[in-house]
Amino acid sequence: MKKVLFTLALAVALPLSAQQKPVYLDTAKPLEERVEDVLGRLTLKEKIALIHAQSKFSSAGVPRLGIPETWTTDGPHGIRPEVLWDEWNQAGWTNDSCVAYPALTCLAATWNPEMSMLYGKSIGEEARYRNKNMLLGPGVNIYRTPLNGRNFEYMGEDPYLAAHMVVPYIQGVQQNGVAACVKHFALNNQEINRHSLNVVVDDRALYEIYLPAFKAAVQQGKAWAIMGAYNLYKGQHCCHNEYLLNNILKSEWGFDGVVVSDWGGTHDTDEAIANGLDMEFGTGTDGLAKGTNNAYDNYHLAMPYLERIQKGKVGTKELDDKVRRVLRLAFRTTMSEGRPYGSMLSPEHYAAARRIGEEGIVLLKNANGLLPIDLNKTKKIAVVGENAVKMMTVGGGSSSLKVQREISPLDGIRQRVGDKAEVVYVRGYVGDASGEYNGVVTGQNLEDNRSPEELIAEAVEAAADADYVIFIGGLNKSAGQDSEDSDRKGLELSYGQDNVISALAKATKNLVVVNISGNAIAMPWVNEVPAIVQDWYIGSEAGDALASILMGDVNPSGKLPFTFPVKLEDVPAHSLGEYVGERNRQVQDVKYNESIFVGYRWTDKQKKVKPLFPFGHGLSYTTFAYGKPTADSKTMSADGALTVKVTVKNTGTRAGQEVVQLYISDKKSSLPRPVKELKGFRKVKLAPGEEKEIAFTIDKEALSFFDDVQYAWIAEPGKFEAIIAASATDIKGVVSFELN
Ligand code: BGC
Repeated sequence: MKKVLFTLALAVALPLSAQQKPVYLDTAKPLEERVEDVLGRLTLKEKIALIHAQSKFSSAGVPRLGIPETWTTDGPHGIRPEVLWDEWNQAGWTNDSCVAYPALTCLAATWNPEMSMLYGKSIGEEARYRNKNMLLGPGVNIYRTPLNGRNFEYMGEDPYLAAHMVVPYIQGVQQNGVAACVKHFALNNQEINRHSLNVVVDDRALYEIYLPAFKAAVQQGKAWAIMGAYNLYKGQHCCHNEYLLNNILKSEWGFDGVVVSDWGGTHDTDEAIANGLDMEFGTGTDGLAKGTNNAYDNYHLAMPYLERIQKGKVGTKELDDKVRRVLRLAFRTTMSEGRPYGSMLSPEHYAAARRIGEEGIVLLKNANGLLPIDLNKTKKIAVVGENAVKMMTVGGGSSSLKVQREISPLDGIRQRVGDKAEVVYVRGYVGDASGEYNGVVTGQNLEDNRSPEELIAEAVEAAADADYVIFIGGLNKSAGQDSEDSDRKGLELSYGQDNVISALAKATKNLVVVNISGNAIAMPWVNEVPAIVQDWYIGSEAGDALASILMGDVNPSGKLPFTFPVKLEDVPAHSLGEYVGERNRQVQDVKYNESIFVGYRWTDKQKKVKPLFPFGHGLSYTTFAYGKPTADSKTMSADGALTVKVTVKNTGTRAGQEVVQLYISDKKSSLPRPVKELKGFRKVKLAPGEEKEIAFTIDKEALSFFDDVQYAWIAEPGKFEAIIAASATDIKGVVSFELN
């Protein structure tokens, strides 16, 4: 007793600095020591409180110990507006508008990891400023079918590209003391029936196609959080899936961060306890307002878990593991020393959004050098189409935003053209005039009751005497287009757009079609239209970015992150594998029979199937000449490396950027392999006449496949080819070598 009194007296008498800090507050101490220190201080109830939501987007901290709450936000294209504590409706703040960055498809189309870093850093700063410590994104689910309503939130069809683009995004976000929560782990490749589909996929496709981007996110990006997917795998929901979470993510890959459930993705208490879920969010929170008690107490990882522990049905080993992970999250984010303050809506953020947009827009076709538009020779430009004016930042599901500003394509074009030419706008077609998501309204009135015939006649008339006609259409963020929780019905454009485009193609030789989408579309008019631009959901700076490409202020340098098929039957998920398009709430298998042959891995193999536009395709306003590639050796040893070099020269009159692609082809293997696979890429900037040498160094990893019998990555000795290409079908040169 005396001793206690003495210690207390000493503590009071000493200045604060001389008192001993608890271990967990001592930032000089190793992370794990601090975590263990807190763990030892927590009561059972405090532990339970840490691992489930307390509101729509937050979970509790430990006020007694000064451990802050966790606040999450969507993600992945901007910071979601604030909602009410327990409802999806807007909280009605007036200071929660954000900058909308380009959709992740656009980021992937830049093929530029520097753009990923810029993106992550910028959006991370906005998250930090809004006091969020977890950004729900980025998403890296592989593009398996062009019908998936959520492809726009992901990074395309190729695991190597997605893996290399996701890592800098995560690093950029986390520099701000904000966790990136990579989603949706795993196999969430369609939206229809996302809660009830049980994906049946072989181990090769799992490891070679669907997991590499997640693995890179964890091991190279060092992501602090990962979100489970809604669907099932091996009969278990992915948010509490023994194979994916315990075996692969945590054991094989050594992930030490938190697994967060997708909102409403937790279905079973015992599985949630045992199978690696660390934080439960979004489970039936109908409400604090409507319920008689706190709805969050009924979460699987709340009272039901506590009761099981209290009754001795389960121990606390799993609980402690979950809590350790949540504590790591706190130390890495809210409690990290020197955490920056972040910033919102800054000129730098708008500039970043614009730059990423400009680098991601893809010039698909440009017959006779129709683009760029030469304003000195232009008197009149006719802009046609709903997407020229429709705000695209509202809608699409959880990535919907409330923006401070959004420059429409038409406004961007008008501002850029100024008084140099006349710009007329006509509607062309009426798509979806609505513009509301969870209470955020665009405020646009897009109603138009004229018939399609009237609208086409008006467009054709406007086109007749215009020097350029720019049709701006594509998909939008409404259900059944590019939107969460629904898929597209087909590859075709809706709202009669094909008719408008064909009519315009007859009326003018100078037609530019700008397709805004996050997905491939069918183009039955491809041969009638001289210039085609693949635009994306670019966000706040949509119009400025598009105008600078169309007018040639910026030379296009984006390349497709996924294949454009001619028709749906050319997509292996539809011709060989299964896709379930009818709504069905019963658990149902969907078989990925196409295995590893996704995207160009499929089209490469087909003699008859030619893509409309291949993976990796994108034109420039300048031209590039490739030299003959060389390798520094004819052989490579299993623990060695090989360097392939190629020169690229800008042979045109404008500065430009080219994405040089390296594919590897295994000439003979014991298991079937794709004809070739992307194993390197480099975006290179060249002044007119300038030539640069690009070097790719590869090792065994680039030659390996996943052997599902040995359960290991294997590189088999024998002949290989290193293929230098400008797209999956535009091969510039080949070097052969052997692995000893
Ligand atoms: C989506 C997630 C999102 C979450 C929170 C879910 O419906 O699938 O991607 O982060 O909602 O809004």
